[in-house]
Amino acid sequence: MPARIIGTGSYLPQRAVSNKELEKWVDTTDEWIRERTGIEQRHLAEQETTTSMAVEAALAAIRDAQIEAKEIDLIIVGTVSADMCFPSTACQVQSLIGADCAVAFDINAACAGFLFGLSIAQAYMQAGMAQTALVIGGETLSKMMDWQDRSTCVLFGDGAGAALVRKQERGIISLVQGSEGKRGMALTCQNRPVNNPLVKNDTALDHTRMDGREVYHFAVKTVPKAIENAMEKAGVASGEIKYFLLHQANLRIIESVAKKLGQPMEKFPTNLQKCGNISAGSVPVLLDHVNRSGMLQRGDKIVLAGFGAGLTWGAAVVEW
Ligand code: ACO
Repeated sequence: MPARIIGTGSYLPQRAVSNKELEKWVDTTDEWIRERTGIEQRHLAEQETTTSMAVEAALAAIRDAQIEAKEIDLIIVGTVSADMCFPSTACQVQSLIGADCAVAFDINAACAGFLFGLSIAQAYMQAGMAQTALVIGGETLSKMMDWQDRSTCVLFGDGAGAALVRKQERGIISLVQGSEGKRGMALTCQNRPVNNPLVKNDTALDHTRMDGREVYHFAVKTVPKAIENAMEKAGVASGEIKYFLLHQANLRIIESVAKKLGQPMEKFPTNLQKCGNISAGSVPVLLDHVNRSGMLQRGDKIVLAGFGAGLTWGAAVVEW
């Protein structure tokens, strides 16, 4: 599997909003949010946009990898909250970081967006179509929330994370992905409805809606299986994995996955307490936090796993 992560970066909006502050906006309590999810605060965009955060994360990853933007030949942004329908976030990032030699496009795989982006980058490399890829997951989910709906708005945050991936002999050992469109209505946000001279439609833009229990049950069943499949494909036992970096949706989901895999919670670093659920940004932001805090040594084996709307999921075993 010829692709290695050679640098990471992330960006969170300046403004952090605590659960206590949320109590003023919506009928909820700090206690309920902590007990049910583990979340204590999230960062919400004020001046920031999905593109601006993706650019900051990308620049940090470029500095970390010590490469030039012009060496990047592929940019993939996983996002469900692009600033514009077009041009893509990836094309805007390309322009703003000066990665003039890159092919750039966005993908929508919700919270699995970063894992799907890694898969595409790796496939490009296997096909000889790319050498150095910038894979970003970034979201401004706060603009897609109904701030009267306490069952969703307390869960999410804004931010972006990025990884630079280079064609090399060692690195990503295995990747698995899956989708189950039949259950997709468990987590939705409508795009613009048909509106033209034939059909008049002035309905307001939709917000994020979620059947939390359905998504919860999907996650605790599917994620351990996906991780087991990825480890089997890699020929790596769970005991050999230093850290499992999971999508940061809910602490209870992570605890359940740890239990099912028979692994201690110390192997599951979390930052959802401070960031909430950043959808496609979740896994790369956590990866960057773990990388920057010096927790990873060359040769360590880690698992990355994301899951979310679609429904979609992905898991990877990576040698650092
Ligand atoms: N504050 C206070 N009370 C609340 C809140 C809130 N923010 N939200 C819901 N409640 C109430 C409900 O109204 C309900 O009250 P009732 O019993 O009087 O009817 C009660 O709390 C229980 O509600 P549930 O929805 O049953 O709570 P649950 O224990 O299932 O937790 C949660 C909800 C946290 C959303 C959980 O189901 C979950 O984490 N699901 C998974 C979400 C997820 O992983 N999403 C990831 C994908 S995101 C993406 O792809 C973009």
